[in-house]
Amino acid sequence: MNYQMRFLLLFLLIGSAQSDAQSVQGKTAHAPTVQERLGYPASARLLVIHADDLGMSHSVNRATFEALDGTAAVVRRASDPGLPVPIAAAPNIREQIYGVADQATLEAIGAELSKDRDVIAGSDGVLRSLDDTGYAIGFKLTQRRRIDLPKYINVPGMQIHRPVNVIAAIDDCPNEIYSLSHVVLFAPDVDKAEKFYAGRLGFRTTDVFTNLGPFMRPAGTLEHHTLFLIKAPKPGLQHFTFHVGNLNDMLKAGWNFVNKGYKSFWGPGRHILGSNNFWYFNSPFGGLMEFDCDMDLHDDSWKPRFIPASPQTSQTYLFQFTEKWSPGDQKH
Ligand SMILES: [Fe+2]
Repeated sequence: MNYQMRFLLLFLLIGSAQSDAQSVQGKTAHAPTVQERLGYPASARLLVIHADDLGMSHSVNRATFEALDGTAAVVRRASDPGLPVPIAAAPNIREQIYGVADQATLEAIGAELSKDRDVIAGSDGVLRSLDDTGYAIGFKLTQRRRIDLPKYINVPGMQIHRPVNVIAAIDDCPNEIYSLSHVVLFAPDVDKAEKFYAGRLGFRTTDVFTNLGPFMRPAGTLEHHTLFLIKAPKPGLQHFTFHVGNLNDMLKAGWNFVNKGYKSFWGPGRHILGSNNFWYFNSPFGGLMEFDCDMDLHDDSWKPRFIPASPQTSQTYLFQFTEKWSPGDQKH
């Protein structure tokens, strides 16, 4: 199998345990909170990635965070009847949808999965089924767009990328999200989960943390991983990641999160397997959210590495945030 698939959409959700009645009760005389303006209870936990997104989802009760290439994370209510059955308590991942190259690939995947499980073709063009762990998966003709942005890094001895007299260190320089990078899922039977993606969908295993699980890529991308499976007692989302353009953009995106009060979980640093620079944050979507950049590319000649995960094998460098580093009362 050589299915040309790549992430198209990753559905996540934010869930509030409050009922609609509680939601109405909560609307007193105070000015409406951001949560209420977006149609959620005042105490709902929301992550608004860009101020311009405010209100964009109000009428349809969903938020879509779309990257430049058309890949996206979609946030919906846990109670939305249009979502697949949950595999873990909310908030958590509810569905992964991969983009495939053409109709023939879509039909081949449908025929393969129909051998031993239900496959449903939706009116939205998505072919839906379940993987061997029980995660909802879907496939759709790709809608990815080519990214054609100027490069902002100059390297001595190489062609000029940032034009002469164009200054990089300005506050309002672009901080674009390029693509949905990867998703990391817990799997109680990680060997079985890997076999499904490799044997039934043609994913390649690029590297393995022997005490955790495999990094995998579909045939449609050379990137080190779009899927990382971690052995754990219960299924659920460990993290999902957006690619940004370069290290500067990653640090800036993370710094924006820090300044908005989101708690850094890990990073900034650089992974060894995949080489991607990373910065993780605690996410109100459940699990973690990561910004990364500059991931390794591999083809089928690559031989997977098998190593145990440890601090020494997980990061080549790691900055650590410090609240106070100088004498006196000031924090900076
Ligand atoms: Fe990651």
